[in-house]
Amino acid sequence: FKPMQYIYQPVDNATGYTLLLLHGTGGDERDLLPLAPQLGAGFNILSLRGNVEEHGMPRFFRRLGMGIFDEKDVHFRTHEMVHFIKELADREEFDSNKLIAAGYSNGANIAGAVLILYPELLAGAVLFRPMQPLSGLEDSFETQRQQPVFISSGKHDGTVEPAATQGYISLLKANGFNVTAHDLPTGHNLTQEDIGLASQWIKAHF
Ligand code: MLT
Repeated sequence: FKPMQYIYQPVDNATGYTLLLLHGTGGDERDLLPLAPQLGAGFNILSLRGNVEEHGMPRFFRRLGMGIFDEKDVHFRTHEMVHFIKELADREEFDSNKLIAAGYSNGANIAGAVLILYPELLAGAVLFRPMQPLSGLEDSFETQRQQPVFISSGKHDGTVEPAATQGYISLLKANGFNVTAHDLPTGHNLTQEDIGLASQWIKAHF
């Protein structure tokens, strides 16, 4: 396992929760930092850079084409990231049971892979423009924690199939996650409406 590039910003008066920021393709650990205060106050911030590069653009796992994932690498990178986060939690002294992931696009997809492969780990997840990262799952993972998951998709997002998003939402629900989903009148880009809805959702759940 390779260590990951990261930024960690602890806060005083912490709620104990840590926002785990996961960028989209071509971003890095600085990318989503400006959004963090808009998402919620009082959280530690942990922002990671994906360990894979595609033509120089950081990502969290390899893909074979647009929306076609190297699922073996999805597994490997998910284990690598979780291992890294758990070690870092010991070192930086944050609670790895109180992580709220917030990921955009490829970052949302690795967060989704954590929900599937480590269903009890995250306290919650915000998935902006996600796609189901692993296929052939049936109902093979399950959480007892009933963690809340926020999903926002774009009605005009050319990279994501609406039916596939519905299937992904159903799969997460069937495995015990408490999903809130919004389909916004926009494309793959992140909008102020996404941030506003996610911040209300975070306020309601944490
Ligand atoms: C992915 O590769 O995870 C998705 O296609 C989204 C993206 O472009 O990052």
